[in-house]
Amino acid sequence: MQPIVRLSGIGKTYGAGETAVSALVDAELDVFPGEVLLIEGPSGSGKTTLLSILGLLLRPSAGTMSVHGRDVGKMRESELAAIRASVFGFVFQGFNLFPALTALENVSYPMRLKGTSVKSPEAEARRLLELVGLGERMKHLPADLSGGQKQRVAIARALGGDPPVILGDEPTAALDSKTALAVMELLGSLAKQHGRAVVVVTHDPRLERYADRVVRVEDGRVLAPERPSQRTSLAGHERHAA
Ligand SMILES: Nc1ncnc2c1ncn2[C@@H]1O[C@H](COP(=O)(O)OP(=O)(O)OP(=O)(O)O)[C@@H](O)[C@H]1O
Ligand SMILES: [Mg+2]
Repeated sequence: MQPIVRLSGIGKTYGAGETAVSALVDAELDVFPGEVLLIEGPSGSGKTTLLSILGLLLRPSAGTMSVHGRDVGKMRESELAAIRASVFGFVFQGFNLFPALTALENVSYPMRLKGTSVKSPEAEARRLLELVGLGERMKHLPADLSGGQKQRVAIARALGGDPPVILGDEPTAALDSKTALAVMELLGSLAKQHGRAVVVVTHDPRLERYADRVVRVEDGRVLAPERPSQRTSLAGHERHAA
């Protein structure tokens, strides 16, 4: 199976000279369609850096990277922006919703801005909010929604334009544990139903039960990035151990 994203020998150094920080060293990682990939590791280990590179928000300092088989290393910013908008949906810890916009507007506006091929962003936003179970809350402002509901709006927004990869940086960290598991289950089901890849950075090992694969990042190194042939047995093992 061809990966959607392939990172090979990826390194990232912030700053220069004496204050240079080597945040990522020689990272290898493939993201496959339909999988839920969890990225775990201690604070400061390089998880956000890895996810940002994966989502084309940050350029690596070393290594090669391809998206749908195309080398993105030498692309101009405008080309990267187009791939970023069509391939990746982002979900963040703090939801990042516009406070003055309703749930419906929070989902439909970015679709308009992205210039996706969606004919009616508003109709599509309604469909997505129903998909995440918020059909009854579309006209509410974020302030009038619970944490889990806000995060579901953010997930609906990330799904706008139907990107093949959803990236989440600690998307459940601001939620209570029951809601966190529900949000993770939703992300997992979205991957299973639509052949999407879902990549989630987390500190919470309880989310492992929803993952096909768990990768650890320690001290800027991605540990044991296994290939898909090993995937089933590894996921089974980790589920068992959990
Ligand atoms: N813009 C930056 N400039 C300089 N150093 C940075 C920058 N961003 C991150 N770093 C450093 O790079 C390393 C990795 O940071 P990163 O944010 O990727 O870690 P993380 O695993 O996401 O941590 P956390 O779990 O706390 O979010 C850390 O040592 C951090 O201090
Ligand atoms: Mg982080």
